[in-house]
Amino acid sequence: MLKVNLLTRDGASIAFDAEPSDTLLDAAANANIFLPAVCREGGCGTCRVTRKAGVVVLGPHSKAALTDDDRAAGDILLCRAKACSDLELTAPFDKAAIGFSPIPERSARVTEISPAGAGAVRLVLQYEDDPTHGRATEFIPGQFMELTLPGTSITRAYSLANTPNWDGTLEFLIRLHPQGVFSAYLKSEAKIGDPILVKGPQGSFTADEASHAPRWFVAGGTGVAPMLSMLRQMADFGDTREARLYFGVNTLDELFALDIIEDLKTSLPNLAATLCVWKSAPDWRGFTGTPADALAAALAAESAHPDIYVCGPPALIKATEALSLSAGVAHDRIFSEQFSPA
Ligand code: FES
Repeated sequence: MLKVNLLTRDGASIAFDAEPSDTLLDAAANANIFLPAVCREGGCGTCRVTRKAGVVVLGPHSKAALTDDDRAAGDILLCRAKACSDLELTAPFDKAAIGFSPIPERSARVTEISPAGAGAVRLVLQYEDDPTHGRATEFIPGQFMELTLPGTSITRAYSLANTPNWDGTLEFLIRLHPQGVFSAYLKSEAKIGDPILVKGPQGSFTADEASHAPRWFVAGGTGVAPMLSMLRQMADFGDTREARLYFGVNTLDELFALDIIEDLKTSLPNLAATLCVWKSAPDWRGFTGTPADALAAALAAESAHPDIYVCGPPALIKATEALSLSAGVAHDRIFSEQFSPA
């Protein structure tokens, strides 16, 4: 049995034993330590941590989940790594993102489905009373829930856009994919009152509360959902630090959540939001290009180094990480969550 020690972003030391035949994710789960993960097969990057000492063997994985730059910096994927020696690891998330009992599954019902621009919907659920959890919606802004398609065992993971609350409300912004089964349900079958099983909270994409650096958020499409959750919590807490939001879509008609962003700018006087449209229309007066393009221009004009939070498709994550690193932002100050394959 090998010894693994994982140091979280907020300084907690999590120790567990690992057989060389087990992935580190499974080894931790065997010790009732449930580390952040989504796909469990090397595709999403949610389980990425940094190896500080020791040797691992790393199984097949997507280059989007773990880039060559990540590997050069010592990063590994817990769902693909097996220990070959005792290990010292550091995690880019706080202890609060780790579960020490199985992830809760709770019943909820659909209370609202409405368009969010041309290619997405806003889905609102309401938890039913639960003998263990009551009604409250508990999570850390930035985390996601796994929703089960009614009448099936098909699940999809979506980030919450609202903040923790006592009345059991869960708000999601969900991109509609032409071939997606959950998308098909949302487009043509979903109705108020439908029961949906919710498993969570899960995920490690959360704000580093110990850092006093400015927070710059880079979002592609519905990747803005976890950013809105984090910004809404900053507004609730009266956080006065500098924050920027670079939010991009492909076409003008895909823009959404503009009312929420305007409200946030009122509550957070030090928030600047840049709306980015890739294929610009003649009457568009915002930024033309991707949010990564807008970020690159901003980093070139700045000497201070912010914490960068990026969520969206793999190409946006990759571009944001590469340009942030070349602008001098430290590897451990870039936090990412990429859309998982369905
Ligand atoms: S959970 Fe490890 S890469 Fe997705």
